[in-house]
Amino acid sequence: MSVGYDKVEHDVLVIGAGGAGLRAAIEAASTGVSVGLVCKSLLGKAHTVMAEGGLAASLANVDERDNWKVHFADTMRGGQYINNHRMAQLHAQEAPERVRELEAWGALFDRTKEGRILQRNFGGHKFPRLAHVGDRTGLEMIRTLQDHGIHQGIDVHMEHTVVSLLKDGDRVIGALAYERERGRFKLFHASAVVLATGGIGRAFKVTSNSWEYTGDGHSLAYHAGADLIDMECVQFHPTGMIWPLSVQGILVTEGVRGEGGVLRNSEGKRFMFDDIPDNYKHQTADNEEEGWRYCCGDRDARRPPELLTRDHVARCIVREIREGRGTPHGGVYLDISWIKERLKDGAEHIKRKLPSMYHQFSKLANVDITAEAMEVGPTTHYMMGGIRVDAESQMSTVEGLFAAGECAAGLHGANRLGGNSLSDLLVFGKRAGEHAAAYAQSKGAGQLDETQIDALAKDALAPLEREQGEQPYAIQHELQDQMQNLVGISRQESEMQQALDVVSGLEERAKTASVPGNREYNPGWHTSVDLKHLLTVSRAITLAAIERKESRGGHFRDDYPDKDEAFAKVNTVIRQGTDGQMQIEQLPLAPIPDELQQIIDEEAK
Ligand code: FUM
Repeated sequence: MSVGYDKVEHDVLVIGAGGAGLRAAIEAASTGVSVGLVCKSLLGKAHTVMAEGGLAASLANVDERDNWKVHFADTMRGGQYINNHRMAQLHAQEAPERVRELEAWGALFDRTKEGRILQRNFGGHKFPRLAHVGDRTGLEMIRTLQDHGIHQGIDVHMEHTVVSLLKDGDRVIGALAYERERGRFKLFHASAVVLATGGIGRAFKVTSNSWEYTGDGHSLAYHAGADLIDMECVQFHPTGMIWPLSVQGILVTEGVRGEGGVLRNSEGKRFMFDDIPDNYKHQTADNEEEGWRYCCGDRDARRPPELLTRDHVARCIVREIREGRGTPHGGVYLDISWIKERLKDGAEHIKRKLPSMYHQFSKLANVDITAEAMEVGPTTHYMMGGIRVDAESQMSTVEGLFAAGECAAGLHGANRLGGNSLSDLLVFGKRAGEHAAAYAQSKGAGQLDETQIDALAKDALAPLEREQGEQPYAIQHELQDQMQNLVGISRQESEMQQALDVVSGLEERAKTASVPGNREYNPGWHTSVDLKHLLTVSRAITLAAIERKESRGGHFRDDYPDKDEAFAKVNTVIRQGTDGQMQIEQLPLAPIPDELQQIIDEEAK
């Protein structure tokens, strides 16, 4: 007997309703096609809000020396040159226009004295470049896109989990999902599908990501036959909360350091001065005075070392902790309260610039950040790796399947600069929506296959049918623990081989997991569906991390601590082999055109 479902038809189906999904849906709808927007959670609740400190675009409002070329070069250097150079170029060129458009749609940015959009300093950006709204920029962006989007005639399907993409031959033609509340299946028949599902943070124990981020888009695309690239490149944001344990991992915005916050170890030392990478020496202050002058807007001063790239800062923090100079709860100190020595209205200034951080620490940790230091440590924040896409159109390697935002890869290379995520969502969300709509209009709908749909639904329901078996929660927790310990911020071959064995064992256990109850209001069942995605991305991350035998960006190997020329010009590619097994290979990067190489060389001086 076949499993029943409701059927919904759209020209373009967008899966994921954070910044990229909303922007894609808005663009597609503006061309006149019908658009469905599926969110796993409620509309407006997305990891986009966790990009708190700002949105990177070379508006040059605070420093007129900024322009797209400098932004492009910063992004390439931050990504350690395995970025898709064309994406980095488009992103840098188009970000300012996307910010102005967002403002025209109602986003209320902080202002310079002259009334222009204010921009702040952030790690790896040569000039103050982050347009911001205090430390709530992502929230303002989502609010604006949501308000704008609901007037575009988009059909929003909230609280739906997508189980699988549907195919007609080589082409994606929709998705099978279920309503999370009642567990009823819904089939989305669409001429084009855009994945904008965000990241994979929940594959790790300590993360800034909320429950939705189980690598769904990465896994859906992989199982539909798409290539994933650079899955080893996971970003551990240097500063997450570490105490109390119940809030471990929650983000502490880089905006704190952008506003002058400093990192100290338990001996009171500003340890970031101890290790400044050669390629950033010319831009980095070597004394406290100069760093502070930079934060106050002195154009001739160099950046404080706390504003080095995230991968580097996170590793320095781990070094301090490992070498016994950590805080009582196993982190380091992040102190913004010290600026009261320099600014008359210091406490008010901190509250004005960082209202969410002030609130977060006072409510969750009983710490007044205007008077005392925060305890912080790295937290899994962002996935640079993901679905391989065409730079112009955002189409994946599978027909009819597009991807944008965090689940797509290429722009950020081995390490993303803070603030480049929000601009990524806008620039490539728009492109994905535009090209998905054009594809839908030219191709029309594909043919559904009832047998395929039935098999997928039955597979999703299997844990509910089993009378005995392990709870999926236990498997998920073990996976998170082991990924954190074995494939975390410092990696080595033997541990990652062990991780592969662990993943294989957990995959076997997941096949016999059982969930009590029925489909209605059943979080255990949701976990069993998420688990498939988590296991897929965990295997992909581990395989790719084993393959890249060097350290680059967010991927750091204790056994290969340096960069290696042999890996300098390759992406790692994960795809499903004809035998159904996950395969990995290296893919040479496209050569960089001379004019872009010249920009990179010029800015490296
Ligand atoms: O630290 C932050 O505010 C995060 C920003 C980002 O991930 O882009």
